[in-house]
Formats: sequence, C-alpha cells, structure tokens
Amino acid sequence: MSKNFWKKLNRPILALAPMAGITDSAFREICVRNGCDVAYSEMASVSALFFKPKKTLELLKFNASERPYVVQLFGKDPKHFAKATQIVTTELKPAGIDINFGCPAKKVFGHGSGCALMPQTDLAREIISAVCDNTDLPVSIKIRAGIEGRDAKSCVSTTAIDFIESIEDLPFVAVMVHGRTYEGGFSAVPNFEIVAEIKKIIPNKIVLANGGINTPEDAKNILDKYPTIDGLGIARGAWGKPYLFAQIKELLKIRTLGVSHPHSHLDTQCPSAVEYDFTAIKKIALAHADLLWESKGKTGMLEIRKHLAWYFKGFSNASELRQKLVQSKSVEEIKNILE
Ligand SMILES: Cc1cc2nc3c(=O)[nH]c(=O)nc-3n(C[C@H](O)[C@H](O)[C@H](O)COP(=O)(O)O)c2cc1C
Repeated sequence: MSKNFWKKLNRPILALAPMAGITDSAFREICVRNGCDVAYSEMASVSALFFKPKKTLELLKFNASERPYVVQLFGKDPKHFAKATQIVTTELKPAGIDINFGCPAKKVFGHGSGCALMPQTDLAREIISAVCDNTDLPVSIKIRAGIEGRDAKSCVSTTAIDFIESIEDLPFVAVMVHGRTYEGGFSAVPNFEIVAEIKKIIPNKIVLANGGINTPEDAKNILDKYPTIDGLGIARGAWGKPYLFAQIKELLKIRTLGVSHPHSHLDTQCPSAVEYDFTAIKKIALAHADLLWESKGKTGMLEIRKHLAWYFKGFSNASELRQKLVQSKSVEEIKNILE
C-alpha cells in the first residue's frame, strides 16, 4: 500500500504549519480534533538526532490520534540528514518527513541551515536526496518566497521559482510555500502568486500556501483566487483558535454547496462559520490543558499559560481573566477560574 498519505487527503488540505515552541503533541492534537488535516512537528535538528537521538526523539513523540503527523528536520549536513531520517523513520514512524528550507532565525540561518539553503541548490539537492534515499515515507519541503539579497546577512538572492526549478526532478511529494521572502520576515504581505506559479512547475506534487491566514475569509479568498493550490498551511492563525480549521471547512462547505469545484465561491451572504462562544472555547482550552498535563506534567502547566492568554484574548473581562489564568498551576485550578 502506498505510504503517501498526502494523496489520500481531501482538498483543500488544511495543515498546521511547523512552529518551534508551539506545535508540540498537545497543540497538534487539539488542532487535529478541530479540523486540521495534517500536523507538523516543531523543527528538529538533524545534528542533534545524529549525536544525541534519544533526547530529540523524546521531543518528537506523538499520539496515534495526531495522525497524519509530519516530522520537520533542519540542518545543513547531508550525512546528518541521512542518519536522522533513518532514526525518525524506524523509531518514530510518523506519516511523513519535512525538510526546513524556510527558517530565517539567526541561529538557524546564521549556521547555513533553513532559508540559507535556498540559494545553495547543489547542497539542497544533496539534502533532499539524502532524506528521500533513507526513508519509505513521503518527503515534503518547506520554503520561502525567496531571498531578496538586500540584507547584508542574506547577500545572495534567489526566488522560490528558481529553487523549485532546480529540484523539481527529485522525488519529494509536497511543498509548503511561505509567501514571504527572507527579508519579509513574519509580517510582509505574502505573495501567493508565486505559490500558484510553483504549482504550474510541479503539477503532480502537492503545493500548500502559507502566510497570514488568520480567518476563514482569508483562507477562502486565497483558495478562490488560486484554485490550483492544493491547500493551506496555518501557523499563528491557530494560536488560541485551533478551531480555525473547522471554521474554514464550514465556510467552504457552505459556499461550495451544489458546485463541483471544491474551491468555488458562491454566496457572499452566507454566515461566516460556526460561532465559537466562551463556552465552546472554554471546552477546547480545558481539553488542551488536559493534553498538556498528560504529555508534559508541571512544565505543561507553565506552557498552557500563553495558550490560555490567546484563547481568551477578545473577551470583555480578558485581562482580569488572564491575570488569574497565568498563575494557575493545575487543570483543576484553570477549570475553577473559568467557571
Ligand atoms: C513561533 C514560531 C515558530 C516557528 N517555527 C517554525 C519551524 O519550526 N519550522 C518552520 O518551517 N517554520 C516555522 N515557523 C514559520 C511558520 O511555520 C510559518 O511559516 C510562518 O509563521 C508564517 O505563517 P503565519 O503567517 O500563518 O504565521 C515558525 C513561526 C513562528 C511564529
């Protein structure tokens, strides 16, 4: 049976994009329960897996209910990628493996990994081949719209189109394109035109658009404008709103009733999506707290605080609630405060 789970997913595919410090097991599960089709891990260093696999594997473990789960790797040494891929494939058995070609963070980019690999196509090819040759799992990549080269640290310029043209013959099966350049960081307006162009170059691979998708309407607008794109990667839009995936699905379903094309838009008068009121959000937040307690114990109770602040951000008594919630030490305490 083919291991390529990507092919079995309905379109549009709604993915939880990888986020270091955020997309841990509990967050992935809460997103999958709320409509996410595929969840990425936090990025894991191939060198850490090469030298100290036990500790890193512990951070990457997952529950069956998070499936399909994709482990993202970063680094720059093809030998480390090869070994890390073997370890992840045999020890963890996720649904897929992703390679990070998009991270602009100093400690990643500055060491020649992440987005710094986009202008180095020979090395990038070696890395993709090292991963594909050492696993039977489907391999995906995550890239940026390019590097403009106007920053002293970036110096060489390249575009996502050039990058994809230089690797399109390799057997990776999916790509998530963050529509911002290296210089665009996390706040520039994403360029989704380039994502649609990439789909033209690799029509048989899956192409997901990522960047700035924070509401069901954002998702709909992109899918309407670029109907060839296979799906979306959602990152910060899911902070405190793991139900954004379900809302997007609800909106698309309403708007696509009676038409054959899955991304078609029809009626702008349709209600936006299911309403998530305080009671509904409280239920999700408590389930998230339970999952964090189960997976991380006391540390999880510290980590849930930022999520709780995001969950209840827009409510009228939010700051008072937040003040209490950030001091909570157990799921029971959180429950009492929310009651
Ligand atoms: C806190 C944080 C951590 C991130 N960590 C990763 C990561 O580990 N790997 C990766 O490829 N991208 C990472 N990203 C980038 C996101 O996956 C995504 O491409 C970016 O945030 C743009 O999407 P958004 O506008 O929906 O947030 C991270 C982003 C944030 C905000």
